[in-house]
Amino acid sequence: MASEPSDTARRHLPPERDLRTLRSAASGCTACPLHLSGTQTVFGDGPADAVLMLVGEQPGDAEDVAGEPFVGPAGKLLDRCLEAAGIDRRRVYVTNVVKHFKWVPRGKRRIHGKPNAREIRACLPWLEAEMEAVSPRVVVCLGATAAQALLGSSFRVSRQRGEFVASPIAPYVMATAHPSALLRQPDEDSRRVERARFIADLRKVAEVLVRPDVP
Ligand code: URA
Repeated sequence: MASEPSDTARRHLPPERDLRTLRSAASGCTACPLHLSGTQTVFGDGPADAVLMLVGEQPGDAEDVAGEPFVGPAGKLLDRCLEAAGIDRRRVYVTNVVKHFKWVPRGKRRIHGKPNAREIRACLPWLEAEMEAVSPRVVVCLGATAAQALLGSSFRVSRQRGEFVASPIAPYVMATAHPSALLRQPDEDSRRVERARFIADLRKVAEVLVRPDVP
C-alpha cells in the first residue's frame, strides 16, 4: 500500500522511548516507500550512554543485508579513521538519517540512490527519538544529507566543515565529510589528502570528548 505524502514515522513511535523499544518499533516502519525496497530497517547501533553520536545518510548495500549501520566499506574506513583519531568506536553511537537502503539496479548490483526530502522527513522522528534516548554531548554529521537534515537546508559542509556550530541538538555539533566521499576520490593522492582531513576533523572531536568542560 502506498504511503500518504504527509506520512512520517511519528505514528510508529512507541510510548517507551528506550533504544531497544525504538529499534523494535522501527523494524515495522512503513512511513515511506523505502520499506518496500530495503531488506530491513537499519536502526542505529551503540551504547545508550554514548557521549558521541555519528550520523550518516542511509544504510548501504552491506548494511541493508546485515541490519547494522556502517559495516560495509565506508564503515570499515570510518573505523580506521576513528582509531587514528583516538576515538573508541565501541563507545560511539552510529546511526543514519534514513533507516532503509534506497537503491537502483545496475546489472546485478544495487547502486546507492540519494534519499529525497520526503523520505528524509518521514524518517526523521526515528533520529530525533534516538537523540532523545542517547542524549549525546557531541554529534557529528557525516556528509551533506545528515548536516542539512539536522542543521538546516542552507548548511554547507563545504563552508563549515570541521567547525563546531551552535545547535540546539547537542552542546557540540560538527559536520564533516562522509567516509564514502573518501572512497570515491579518483586517485591515491587525493584519497590520502581527504583521509588526513577527515582524521583531523575527528581529532578535534576527540579533544572535545576528553575536555573536562564538556557539560
Ligand atoms: N553510508 C551511510 O551513510 N551509512 C551507513 O550506514 C553506511 C554507509
